[in-house]
Amino acid sequence: MDSFLIRGGNRLKGTIEISGSKNSALPILAACLMAEGKTTLKGVPRLSDIDSMSKLIGELGCHVYRHDPDEVDRSVDGPVLDGPLDITVTDESLCEARYDIVKTMRASICVLGPLLAKRGKAIVSIPGGCAIGDRPVDLHVRGLQKLGAQFRTENGNIVGEVRGRLKGCHMYLGGAQGPTVLGTINVMCAAALAEGETVLVGAACEPEVLDCAELLIKMGAKIKGHGTPEIRIEGVDKLTGCEHRIIPDRIECGTFMIAAAITNGELELRHCNLDHLIAVTDRLEEVGVHIERQNGTVFVSSSRRLTPVEMTTQPYPGFPTDLQAQLMALLCLADGISVVTERIFPDRFLHVGELNRMGGRVRKEGATAIVQGVKEMQGASVMASDLRASAGLVLAGLVAKGTTRIDRIYHIDRGYEKIEQKLSAVGAQIERVKEK
Ligand code: EPU
Repeated sequence: MDSFLIRGGNRLKGTIEISGSKNSALPILAACLMAEGKTTLKGVPRLSDIDSMSKLIGELGCHVYRHDPDEVDRSVDGPVLDGPLDITVTDESLCEARYDIVKTMRASICVLGPLLAKRGKAIVSIPGGCAIGDRPVDLHVRGLQKLGAQFRTENGNIVGEVRGRLKGCHMYLGGAQGPTVLGTINVMCAAALAEGETVLVGAACEPEVLDCAELLIKMGAKIKGHGTPEIRIEGVDKLTGCEHRIIPDRIECGTFMIAAAITNGELELRHCNLDHLIAVTDRLEEVGVHIERQNGTVFVSSSRRLTPVEMTTQPYPGFPTDLQAQLMALLCLADGISVVTERIFPDRFLHVGELNRMGGRVRKEGATAIVQGVKEMQGASVMASDLRASAGLVLAGLVAKGTTRIDRIYHIDRGYEKIEQKLSAVGAQIERVKEK
């Protein structure tokens, strides 16, 4: 397993290109199972989770082909890191998502709705718990049941079947922790091919839901209200392949905004959508970070006198849980006590112990962390536990005195495209150490 060695203390200065959104691309790849003909996706980041999803839909009968970046017409498309991805369904008889893949990536559950709607059957291994909590899929199953699918569990698999065609209905999709992002997408996809109208009340409003709805509409689906808590879907008989560009990754963008802030630096972040980061911008400005936007580019700078804040993670448009660990790393250096509360995944605090090993003073009380700001962080050997927690440790390493070694960085490779290249290019001293 590879590690990162980070020598802290450099101010970051320069330009970073933001990649396409992982969390948008993953369910969109699964939605391609429903289309007839070729779908071309632009801006799909090169990440291990994308490789896993490509493999999964490949096993489900899709031909997936990645073009070379050189084949892209930059005058039309603007700067891109990666070539487009072509997806064509060539075999509709397959419907099993194996445990081997599902266990590495929970987003595999996104094939459930598309398979049931298009092929009438789905066998998907039940995703287990993960480092950020239990993460059940009951709301996905309940929503699809309301559309008429029948489920049983068999040898660790969810087995779903549809007699005839799914039927649209009026349903509430929220759960105890609020709306579900991938659950909304799963049910929305299935409803796109159901008979009649479906109304999803309590739907997630995240930009990734909106992006998937836009893709489905290009494929011929009739969807209204996406991006609001009530989505209306009029089922159609078929969906056809289309061309679509994935939205910029708001979590990667937020992470680099915090990288600028924590290193007292100046970064220009290109190809991002600050509208998707309104709560993050609000909190960072409160902390004292300077943020300016110009179309799709954001300029972030900080003079590193950081004011402590209170922050609670919430469903969109609230502060995203996927940036909680990164903000906490920044607040470790604020001038006083900050309070961070986690409302989406109450156990998502594995980074606390590691930040404390680096000299942070964070105390956990239930789903809240009390962060007492310190003057400096120190380099240490720490362990990446999940994707976003690891990003928080990278940020702390960039400012810590001495060298930080982060082990198990395969977690970071799941969700941050070329992170060490992007950070080195703006002045960070970060090096990947390959396992011998
Ligand atoms: N929930 C249920 N039952 C369900 C589904 C969810 O109780 O059937 C609960 C969850 O346990 C949680 C809450 O509902 O408390 C919200 O979870 P949600 O379903 O919205 O999460 P998700 O769709 O599985 C996506 C992202 C996560 C991100 C969350 C919240 C992808 C691939 N994953 O997960 O991203 O944290 O939304 O915004 O889109 C990450 O990128 O590191 C990551 C974990």
